[in-house]
Amino acid sequence: MEVVICESAEEIGRHVADAYEAVLRLPAPVIGLATGSSPLAAYHELIRRHRDDGLSFAHATAYLLDEYVGLPAAHPESYAAVIRRELTDHLDLDPARVHSPRGEADDLVAECARYDAAIAASGGVDLQLLGIGTDGHVGFNEPMSSLSSRTRLKTLTQQTREDNARFFASVDEVPTHVLTQGLGTILEARHLVLVATGEDKAEAVAAAVEGPLSARCPASILQWHPHATVFVDEAAASRLD
Ligand code: F6R
Repeated sequence: MEVVICESAEEIGRHVADAYEAVLRLPAPVIGLATGSSPLAAYHELIRRHRDDGLSFAHATAYLLDEYVGLPAAHPESYAAVIRRELTDHLDLDPARVHSPRGEADDLVAECARYDAAIAASGGVDLQLLGIGTDGHVGFNEPMSSLSSRTRLKTLTQQTREDNARFFASVDEVPTHVLTQGLGTILEARHLVLVATGEDKAEAVAAAVEGPLSARCPASILQWHPHATVFVDEAAASRLD
């Protein structure tokens, strides 16, 4: 695992955009997207490179990590809506090739199996971007998630619902359940890129990078991956030895 300590979120964004740019040179790139605040600097940089430098996503396919259960797809905080607003509406990426688990599906178990099969049929993810929860989650694999788990229904911890309450009118409106790629699914991506900024992520980053490989800190799976890169600012790196 490579750990890169950066001066700012903007510097992290440029490094992540470089990593996506390398993958976009492939004939049929498959990019893994995350939502939340951490990827935004990278997304701003990708949008800028598309607009100013002609970086093209025309031949790419995208898969999101996760989706809330019970929010209509049109709800502004559904992850399908968030990724359109924050990224894909501003790129030449065909909306039909931007995929997310359907949290409104009648049969959620079948939907999760369909999603894993779709990723595999696309040839697997070339680069998966990840944020990290304050409890060490990646995707919405909360602590004690199986290290080999596949895409599935998960219950959010109260801590994660409180962390995400900033996107809703109150914590009570944050959905209680999600569909998330499993840790086993995420591990199959060919390059994992985790980004974190701020003091409140420092403990989780230290556990992920220097703690034991353990389901107690799901992000510690990066230690197990042959090609994982962690971009952090100094505050998020502050508990590293
Ligand atoms: C979002 C996701 C989550 C977030 C994590 C950090 O798609 O999978 O794991 O990456 O909760 O969220 P932020 O970046 O908002 O602190």
